[in-house]
Amino acid sequence: MRDKIKVGLMGFGTVGTGVVRIVDSNKEDLYKQTGAEIEVSRILVRDTEKERAVYVNPDIITTDPHELIYDEDVKVVIEVMGGIEPARTYLLEAIEQGKHIVTANKDLMAIHGAELTKKAQQFGCDLYYEASVAGGIPILNAIVEGFSSDRIKQIMGIVNGTTNYILTKMSNEHASFDDVLREAQELGYAEADPTADVEGLDAARKMAILASLGFHVGMNLDDVSVRGISQVTLEDMKYGEQLGYTMKLIGIAKKDDDFIEVSVEPTLVKNSHPLATVNGVFNAVYVYGEAVGETMFYGPGAGELPTATAVLSDLVTVVKNIKLGITGRSMATPYHEKKLKSDKEIYSKYFIRLIVNDESGVLAQIAKLMAEEGISVEKVFQEPYPNEDKKAELILVTHKTSKKQVDTILNAFEQVDFVEKVKSSYRVEGGE
Ligand code: NAP
Ligand code: HSE
Repeated sequence: MRDKIKVGLMGFGTVGTGVVRIVDSNKEDLYKQTGAEIEVSRILVRDTEKERAVYVNPDIITTDPHELIYDEDVKVVIEVMGGIEPARTYLLEAIEQGKHIVTANKDLMAIHGAELTKKAQQFGCDLYYEASVAGGIPILNAIVEGFSSDRIKQIMGIVNGTTNYILTKMSNEHASFDDVLREAQELGYAEADPTADVEGLDAARKMAILASLGFHVGMNLDDVSVRGISQVTLEDMKYGEQLGYTMKLIGIAKKDDDFIEVSVEPTLVKNSHPLATVNGVFNAVYVYGEAVGETMFYGPGAGELPTATAVLSDLVTVVKNIKLGITGRSMATPYHEKKLKSDKEIYSKYFIRLIVNDESGVLAQIAKLMAEEGISVEKVFQEPYPNEDKKAELILVTHKTSKKQVDTILNAFEQVDFVEKVKSSYRVEGGE
């Protein structure tokens, strides 16, 4: 008689459907790898009348979470409902009933990861969340297992497919942000309310999780500085391209001398950097380890089957842990104190685009202001400003400069009368 592990599935939408499909189609492989037959024995949904994309026995579908949480036969709960509540409450309750947890929920893990991890440890339950970052790319396992003997210095990621699709289209087809966003919504990449994607919040949640695991600290979403792509213009991208850069929404997590910075912002990436070539809805995570050097992980960041493979890789781990009697394991437990860098300690090159008076002495005055702030210029070029005589666009790229210095100089530019407008500024990464 084969061992059987019964699983309760919370959510039967895109990812839940993929989970059921793969469990059905790969049953024998899953058995061979785990020594147990996996059966999805209960499924929680909001609407039992809804037509489902894959057949399951209608009797296992319920709207009552307690039918999963208090079912003694259910050993593992897979949460693919999304959102913070009621997911958080259901999972805490399920852990109290001894259920092992697999979740794809980045919103929940970025904010309540520490609470859930603590609870799971208290009750001897497993907690895994590979699918919460970069969908089908097994990046969390790579960081937790593959880099376990190394010290990660830097994680840079394109971890939001919607924004990468938008920026790629803007760059390749010179289409405006609004037009491409509309198209992304029509194609189903962007949500009806795309705020979390375009304003960088979705990527910030994923970066909080990556930084926590990569640096063994308890990072919160509040520790991530966030700026989205809604203000990025075709002109910014064009000037960036002239200088050899590609605009990407980049999540950066860096550690220097025990101090950490984590941010998500539109960034001009040097074309020679591997992240510059990641296009469309694809995701990629670049990890720099002190011993291993540069690595990059690339693949689909979302979608039914890619995301379900990540969920099921966690499930396989949990089932193996159950069979070996070694449950009570989470992806990681922080063991370093969290020390965050101040703006004086965050260093990067910066691209600055100004509209200035096109008259004698202006360039010298700008150079003087920058010198007074201790900022050194790496590149500079000027173009006539269209439609306005006696104005010019001045594009500057700084050498490595602190965030504090850049904020100060941008503020100084706003105050002087020879600068009409600070049009934009972006972090510049790669190639050093
Ligand atoms: P989805 O298609 O919207 O499906 C959500 C499912 O959860 C639906 O079946 C829904 O029931 C059920 N549900 C939602 N709230 C519920 C509640 N309060 N009580 C009971 N059932 C509830 O979502 P998804 O795209 O599969 O995403 C699921 C999770 O995976 C999210 O955390 C998401 O961030 C994460 N994720 C998704 C992807 C992706 O490619 N989609 C990639 C990576 C991570 P009904 O069907 O009855 O409405
Ligand atoms: N909205 C997310 C994206 C889905 O565009 O990448 C996967 O988390």
